[in-house]
Amino acid sequence: MTIDSLNLLKTAKDVPTFDAVPWDSPVAWHPAGSGASVDLAAVREIVRRYRRHGFCIVQLQPGTADEQSLSSLAEALRLGNPFVPPLYRLNGNTPSAVSRISAGLNASTQDATHPSFGRSSGQRLHTDGTLQDIGQIRTTLLLCQSVGRTGGDTRLFNATAAYAELLTADLPAALALATPGSLVRRATVNGSDDFNAGPAFAVVDGQLVTRYSLTDTDRWEVPSGISADDLWRAVAYLERCAEDSAVYREFRLEPAQVLVLANARLSHGRTAYTDDPQQPRCMFRTLHEREPATEPIPCP
Ligand SMILES: [Fe+2]
Repeated sequence: MTIDSLNLLKTAKDVPTFDAVPWDSPVAWHPAGSGASVDLAAVREIVRRYRRHGFCIVQLQPGTADEQSLSSLAEALRLGNPFVPPLYRLNGNTPSAVSRISAGLNASTQDATHPSFGRSSGQRLHTDGTLQDIGQIRTTLLLCQSVGRTGGDTRLFNATAAYAELLTADLPAALALATPGSLVRRATVNGSDDFNAGPAFAVVDGQLVTRYSLTDTDRWEVPSGISADDLWRAVAYLERCAEDSAVYREFRLEPAQVLVLANARLSHGRTAYTDDPQQPRCMFRTLHEREPATEPIPCP
């Protein structure tokens, strides 16, 4: 298979940057009351930061960190209905569109064994929805309701920016990761044996996107026609990049803050945490197939 290297190089000029991220200035969000219009200035700033940095931290008002707040924010950002991965519906399950991530609160639920939702262990870098086609899940919303006693920091890796550098420095290695079959994701929850053997990077809708993931359910494979040396050189390069503060950061999402994440541009993960038994760490998450926008998406 021939990969369009010129197209990759063209889109590599427009990737997120972690330069000048306003870490200490989340965008304040005041939910609109009944009949009131949304804060358009706040929406514009969220969209601007999302496009520039690949993410934006939004500060809700104290006491409003619940599932309804997440739904209202998604509506204001024109993200559309949350996406529910098909494997969550297997075996007659009727999952909520909002996932609760809490080892403490999910201990006696069917999510107790889920590696993210039900455990307090760390999570390696990944993108959400890796079983779907690359670029399908554009946005993840992650709302912090309560933090752990220790740990639970969010990890962000600007995978597309690191890959853009690789395209310039070592094109054969970069093309290996753009080849379908280079990154294999296999499902492990809900009895599913589904898998997706796709590329780790691609151009979708004129944008460089990624599904760069390093969890236990992901593995690299050398696709047909690709040199193993090229692939493993690329893998090693990105792993080295993930130690560089220019493209890798860790931070703690505080209560009533929402991470609006460009899931197809950055990879993310989590450090391990311990809980306060009186108030376990609790986050809520939704997945969306759109990016935040200030204007409605026109009908096709
Ligand atoms: Fe995730």
